[in-house]
Amino acid sequence: MKILVVDDDPIQREMLAGFLVNQGYRVIAVANGEEALDVFQKQAVHLSLLDHHMPGATGGEVLAKMKAINPLAHVILITAYGDVQTAVTVLKLGADEFLEKPVDLALLLNKIREIEREITVEEDVAVVKEAVEDGPLPLRIIAGSPAMKEVISLVRRTADSPWPVLILGETGTGKELIARLLHLLSPRKDQPFIEVNCAAIPENLFESELFGHEKGAFTGAVSRRRGRMELADRGTLFLDEIGEMPLNLQPKLLRSLQENKISRVGSESEIHLDLRLVSASNRDIKHMIDEGQFREDLYYRIKVLEIEIPPLRERREDIPVLVAFFLERYAHKALRVSHEALDTLIKYPFPGNVREIEHAIQRTITLARGSVVHPSDLPGEIRRHEATTEGKLIERLNAMEREMILSALEQKDWVQTQAAEVLGISERVLRYKMKKHGIIGEDS
Ligand SMILES: Nc1ncnc2c1ncn2[C@@H]1O[C@H](COP(=O)(O)OP(=O)(O)OP(=O)(O)O)[C@@H](O)[C@H]1O
Ligand SMILES: [Mg+2]
Repeated sequence: MKILVVDDDPIQREMLAGFLVNQGYRVIAVANGEEALDVFQKQAVHLSLLDHHMPGATGGEVLAKMKAINPLAHVILITAYGDVQTAVTVLKLGADEFLEKPVDLALLLNKIREIEREITVEEDVAVVKEAVEDGPLPLRIIAGSPAMKEVISLVRRTADSPWPVLILGETGTGKELIARLLHLLSPRKDQPFIEVNCAAIPENLFESELFGHEKGAFTGAVSRRRGRMELADRGTLFLDEIGEMPLNLQPKLLRSLQENKISRVGSESEIHLDLRLVSASNRDIKHMIDEGQFREDLYYRIKVLEIEIPPLRERREDIPVLVAFFLERYAHKALRVSHEALDTLIKYPFPGNVREIEHAIQRTITLARGSVVHPSDLPGEIRRHEATTEGKLIERLNAMEREMILSALEQKDWVQTQAAEVLGISERVLRYKMKKHGIIGEDS
């Protein structure tokens, strides 16, 4: 990373430059704004450290010019101690951070590392975007939020490796989309991508579906058939909903993954395979292991690399972009979403995530009367949600309170004085709340 240090004070300038060089950065140090802009124009600078008070152009002015040249420029402003007004102004101008003199070097280093990480993620996203848009099978993925950018960056970094990837995320968050993207960005992109939806295959057919069978291996096996694993040879095998994989088949799958070979049902001979495994699940597999529904050894085998897709409600800034994206995809005529309708959409928690937004937009398009979508055109559950948010909050707070009281009571063997102490309330309040929640004490 190349850092430009700009300060008219030679002692401060050399101190900062020396420190950063010691940390392994490439540094260019100059004494004023004019020189700084000259370097910035001619070289790829990743980050500029600008002193605010300099003769000639101030740091804030240099910042504004840098942002005009490159809106993605990263800048840290250094201001005099207590100069709140300047701090506010420079942050508005788009500085990444402002630091007060004397500069806290540990803080500076932390901030630089953060910016470095941001730059890497942005670069990964740009590379992925280019690969996807130029590819033979264009995938359209909306990833504007920092959380989704992190996901895309992770996909880029894991796509090349041969290791198994486990994609986790709630229903409709885009697990399948990410699996396809992994394949598309991998060296195997011209080989097959074979999908197995573990939830959709009847248990008695699972083995033959996965491993294939020989003619006569079982009743109904009228001819030899290659299984999905064999079809995925040299490409990617996508085991969707892997949590639904029958327990009795898991050891066989594990063995074939460890040894890179399979044998068809009804056959002794082994077939060597070279496949990249990607699996996905919306279930808590660790919990399934505790319950004895999933094998721990298989779990560790499939999750060498893990990609977790955050639910939509944790990246609401993606909602307006997704709305526009699906409108463009499905609307036959120009439709605009009113400010109020968009507001209602952004506030809705979307338990079904991106798929739910997709369906909501499809329904809205079908039902909208004019060229503008109003809140009344939105699906009922989204419209009604706004009105009921308050009630839901109270319900959830109540449920939480009840949980906490029960757990404190159990922890203290139902001795109310001690439970009240754990909860930080009086015994009388505890008794009142127990009555309210219908909890019957063992000694009452
Ligand atoms: N970031 C995104 N940008 C654009 N479309 C998306 C995005 N995420 C998901 N989608 C779309 O949303 C729908 C659901 O995505 P997908 O089937 O990949 O989800 P999933 O996590 O596999 O869901 P499930 O757990 O129910 O199988 C698809 O039509 C997909 O194209
Ligand atoms: Mg899926």
